[in-house]
Amino acid sequence: MNKKILVTGGLGYIGSHTVVELIESGYDPVIVDNLSNTRPEVLDGIEKITGKRPVFYDFDLLNKNHVKQIFDEHPTLEGIIHFAAHKYVGESVEKPLMYYENNLMSLINLLNEMLNRDIRRFIFSSSCTVYGLPDELPVTEQTPVKPAMSPYGNTKQIGEEILTDTAKVSDLEVILLRYFNPIGAHPSAEIGELPVGVPQNLVPFITQTAAGLHPELRIFGDDYDTPDGTAIRDYIHVVDLANAHVRALEFLETEKNKNQVEIFNVGTGKGNSVMEIVNTFMEVTGVKLPYRIVGRRAGDVPAIWADTTRAETVMGWKAKRNIADALRDAWRWEKKIRHIQ
Ligand code: WQD
Repeated sequence: MNKKILVTGGLGYIGSHTVVELIESGYDPVIVDNLSNTRPEVLDGIEKITGKRPVFYDFDLLNKNHVKQIFDEHPTLEGIIHFAAHKYVGESVEKPLMYYENNLMSLINLLNEMLNRDIRRFIFSSSCTVYGLPDELPVTEQTPVKPAMSPYGNTKQIGEEILTDTAKVSDLEVILLRYFNPIGAHPSAEIGELPVGVPQNLVPFITQTAAGLHPELRIFGDDYDTPDGTAIRDYIHVVDLANAHVRALEFLETEKNKNQVEIFNVGTGKGNSVMEIVNTFMEVTGVKLPYRIVGRRAGDVPAIWADTTRAETVMGWKAKRNIADALRDAWRWEKKIRHIQ
């Protein structure tokens, strides 16, 4: 079976880790990435880990001719894994049109080109952010989608709707993967997270603080209704998340009685608080992390974590790593890029 897969955003954080797992599972990824939120050297890291250097297009999916050229040059794609999108919640509030145009038009250009050809399988990078402030925990795939708290989150919700509506009038086979909080890096420290500017997310801010780039970590609120007062999330090792995409592809290829659109929560099924992440980081690295409790961050939900029963029982996927593994790998990567022994 031809195993050529188009991976959009394939040099990004989750994309690059997924490309590695695809190659190691015998697939032949074709990467398109406009390098707006990553560096071309990520391709070297992929090659160092796998011994393979995937075909890479430095193209923008907003350019319809670019999209057409990729499909013309690779007419026998097995499927598409679509990561390419802007992903910063705060930035999306300041620049909504940039987020709506980029995240939605890229998707629409891909689908229009796909439907002109016999390519049906599509895996979409969605997010737990579609659940907004959940009424029940853990969240299942049946937990109601709530009005998005940011334009970024809205582009994920609208993306899901575009795919669902298109599947109704085509033979598209779609898997919507709702990610929780990806953290960590490949254990080889050849690829990892490369935040642009000052990281908004917790774990890259922790590792940069530990590397001396910031005087302290600010913990946004310890007055939530949680055991230690700090907010709870479901932190999943990025390699586990990457493997969920390989499993989703295999599921699309082999599962006979699947729905045309399948939704899966991709988390660990376990919630951890900010304080637990901080304490685990200090335990596994031996680094004394300076931190200070400050006020809550606008838009944060107090707690959210996944019910992953469906991913386990229907798709046959379960996370294998824990937060200690992820924090150890995140720190190894930070030390590598900062040239710290
Ligand atoms: C986690 C917890 C913060 C930074 C975001 C996006 C979501 C998804 C994952 C793309 C929260 C606290 C953080 C800091 C802190 N991205 N925190 N100090 O907000 O759960 O999710 O990333 O799909 O869409 O919203 O992740 O890492 O920003 O925050 O105390 O310096 O850490 O308040 O409780 P979040 P996060």
